[in-house]
Amino acid sequence: MKVLLINGSSKQNGCTARALQESVNILKEENIDYEIFNIGALPIRDCIGCNKCAAVLKNNTCIFNDDIVNELIAKAKDCDGFVFGTPVYYAHPSGRILSLLDRVFYAGGRVFKYKPAFALASARRAGTTASLDVLHKYFTISQMPVASSSYWTMVHGNTPVEVEEDKEGLMTIRNATRNLVWLMKCIELGKQNEVLPPKNESGIRTNFVR
Ligand SMILES: Cc1cc2nc3c(=O)[nH]c(=O)nc-3n(C[C@H](O)[C@H](O)[C@H](O)COP(=O)(O)O)c2cc1C
Repeated sequence: MKVLLINGSSKQNGCTARALQESVNILKEENIDYEIFNIGALPIRDCIGCNKCAAVLKNNTCIFNDDIVNELIAKAKDCDGFVFGTPVYYAHPSGRILSLLDRVFYAGGRVFKYKPAFALASARRAGTTASLDVLHKYFTISQMPVASSSYWTMVHGNTPVEVEEDKEGLMTIRNATRNLVWLMKCIELGKQNEVLPPKNESGIRTNFVR
């Protein structure tokens, strides 16, 4: 089993990275394979709603291949659980993680189905719960179980050293990671014992004018 940890900051060694490291420490203790995916500082396109991923490609890829979107979808395919970390910018997740995830989930949402995840947010002071709500919405429209914790999964700090001092925040991330691993193990045992994910309905799409 493998967990993919996505660092939604342009900084590879910033506060979000420090928070994700707390999760990595637990994964090591639990002997779970992991990979950190830094989204980096290069440009990431927005979704332009061309729908070509669904209508033309139909293979869990975005038509635009000039950034990290398809790389992330390909990695996610081989993973069993996810941690999505973001810095808070103006009380929401970083613009770059939103651009990335809009396209990753629009083109490749199927690769996340029935796989558990949790989000974490790093802020100097405010906007954490709003940011977590935004990231959780990708999970809850994709039939992903959400691993919860003993408090909301946030750390406060402007530097990794300050994050280090947020003892409760780090504990919350450790607990969320243990819950994530527990869910992954339950799902795996379920598969081995024929307790499979439900075959859910699809195909009904309405809006509010018809
Ligand atoms: C453009 C920008 C906007 C920010 N907005 C907020 C904010 O709304 N609330 C907050 O508490 N911190 C805000 N911050 C501070 C960062 O969220 C905080 O320093 C975070 O821990 C940085 O994580 P990183 O080092 O992984 O990038 C902002 C930082 C930047 C660069």
